[in-house]
Amino acid sequence: MNVLIVGSGAREHALTWKALQSPLTSAVYCAPGNAATAAIAVNSGLQATDVVGIARFVAEREIGLTVIGPEAAVAAGVADRLIADGRLVFGPTAAAGRIESSKAFAKSLMARAGVPTPAHHVFDDPARAKDFVRGERRPFVVKADGLAKGKGTLVPRDADETLECIDTLMLRKTVGAAADRIVLEEKIDGREVSLMALVDGDRVVPLPPACDYKRALDGDKGPNTGGMGGYSPVGFFGPEEIDRAVTAVLKPVVQRLRDEGTPYYGCLYAGLMVGPSGVQALEFNARFGDPEAQVVLPRLSGDVVPWLEATARGALGEINPSWSGRSTVGVVLASRGYPGTYQTGYPVEGLGTLEPDVFAFHAATTAGPAGYLTAGGRVLTLVALGDSIGEARERAYRNVDRIRFQGMTYRHDLALREIEAPVLP
Ligand code: GLY
Repeated sequence: MNVLIVGSGAREHALTWKALQSPLTSAVYCAPGNAATAAIAVNSGLQATDVVGIARFVAEREIGLTVIGPEAAVAAGVADRLIADGRLVFGPTAAAGRIESSKAFAKSLMARAGVPTPAHHVFDDPARAKDFVRGERRPFVVKADGLAKGKGTLVPRDADETLECIDTLMLRKTVGAAADRIVLEEKIDGREVSLMALVDGDRVVPLPPACDYKRALDGDKGPNTGGMGGYSPVGFFGPEEIDRAVTAVLKPVVQRLRDEGTPYYGCLYAGLMVGPSGVQALEFNARFGDPEAQVVLPRLSGDVVPWLEATARGALGEINPSWSGRSTVGVVLASRGYPGTYQTGYPVEGLGTLEPDVFAFHAATTAGPAGYLTAGGRVLTLVALGDSIGEARERAYRNVDRIRFQGMTYRHDLALREIEAPVLP
């Protein structure tokens, strides 16, 4: 079978790498892919949101399964078009994908489904939002309603900072029209965990949980980013917690979407907060997480293609996914200045010296005559497998030391809390 992976980041490099391991796969194409996928698969030259071009390519190349990576492709309706053409696609329709593309929709869906989630308030008018915060005299998480490439959620410390965040999103328009509407959400304490699941319109099959690190600097300081690394498994979120979250969060939402006529097919990602008041759902993503995919896919011991295909066919009942007992730690290597301004075009050295069980999933590189050059803020995710989180962490950082590019920056504290305090107090 020919497989098409839609997207261009480290997540899509990991999906391409995994799909190529399947004996069911004849060829893997990417839309558009990146410099590293060009070395192992075939880049199509098509953008991820080019619905018409992708539909034509799928027909011409007899693609048996299309796997959608990024949220922009979901929102653009790639799945809708391929379904209309009678093609098999892993990824939700734009309507089901509103669970990510509209935070207000996601919150109201959670309310309709009875899913535990912090209380919220929706505003279209910045003055009214600020009046509300002044009246409450406490901080709220401020979320742009629309897609904002990971820059739409701000977490202020107090009421004054909340007012500032409303201005940032709604008046200074840092994420454009995505913040014409905002959600103010109660702040709750706890630890965040990402639980991704395969969903076939009806059934929910959870994948191993992972934790990601959104802040740029050690100690969870600095600005929010698209993700600076992650690890899997998660000590405070074992099999019992997974079962409970599937029952309390994922299944009710999937059932509700089906009952409302917009069944969900693909990977559904729940961002959960585990704290004194149990598990609460903070957000959903209509896709694999990034960098969660990079740390979870290497742990899956089986062939991923039949799972993706069964998800798309609505046949997950025939599948029993298994994953290894091994652990992963992924470190994002970024360009100095990210998520602000940064320079690119520097040679990436040392990629050929990595140890076995260490993978470099590229996010933003170009191929130069003498090797890869940096081409963006997050350059690659370096992922190491180990028999424990401690071993994976040690191996990951030992191999980070083998990679060099000018201005290379990364977090040094990834997975440390998992080793020092794996369970919640
Ligand atoms: N890791 C968060 C995301 O994929 O949006």
